[in-house]
Amino acid sequence: MKPANMRSTITILASLAGALAQTSTTTASAPTSTATGSAGPGTTLQDGYYWIRAVEEPNFHFYLQTAPVYEPGTALLESYTTAGQFQVVDGQLVELIDGGLLYANVEEQADASVVKLAVSFNETENAYGTFAFSGDALQWSIPDIERPNLSAWLVCADQQLFINLGAYGYQTPEGCADETVSLEGNGC
Ligand SMILES: *[C@@H]1O[C@H](CO)[C@@H](O)[C@H](O)[C@H]1NC(C)=O
Ligand SMILES: *[C@@H]1O[C@H](CO)[C@@H](O)[C@H](O)[C@H]1NC(C)=O
Repeated sequence: MKPANMRSTITILASLAGALAQTSTTTASAPTSTATGSAGPGTTLQDGYYWIRAVEEPNFHFYLQTAPVYEPGTALLESYTTAGQFQVVDGQLVELIDGGLLYANVEEQADASVVKLAVSFNETENAYGTFAFSGDALQWSIPDIERPNLSAWLVCADQQLFINLGAYGYQTPEGCADETVSLEGNGC
């Protein structure tokens, strides 16, 4: 390669590196935490973990968490300032907290008339169904229940997250909004 060509190659690589550094700085500083409960993983997304957020109004870019943050409790979609960090491991949706994990536990369907299932976080593993990521969408499934859409979620009163056992955007329960719940961060 001629010296002139080599110089231009280096210039391009340097500006590409600059662009990448710019991008990752912007991503990492998105949600910041002002935790008041137990200690959590901090304001920087830990390797292998994601923020999980809704992407439709009226909950656009509201983030999965508990209240108080990092404590066992109901799954909520709330402000980015208190967002939890999550991963799916062996079918469990886990939240990273200081010194351990919380697990998303799904309410059992009491009978066939129940159209939505509550989700809460606790120290014990979930024994009802399986979580997975499909692309960047969070899904839950169980062999006993035939769901028309594994990615259908609802956000209802007090910002509480539910699994929608019905179709997305069809016969939405009163007081609820249909939502897609997606990963963000670490490449998503
Ligand atoms: C967590 O599990 C404990 C023990 O099973 C139970 O007493 C408590 O109510 C659970 N908390 C939540 C938020 O589900
Ligand atoms: C399934 O639900 C998702 C919401 O997560 C929605 O975006 C998608 O359009 C739904 N698919 C069908 C076939 O209704």
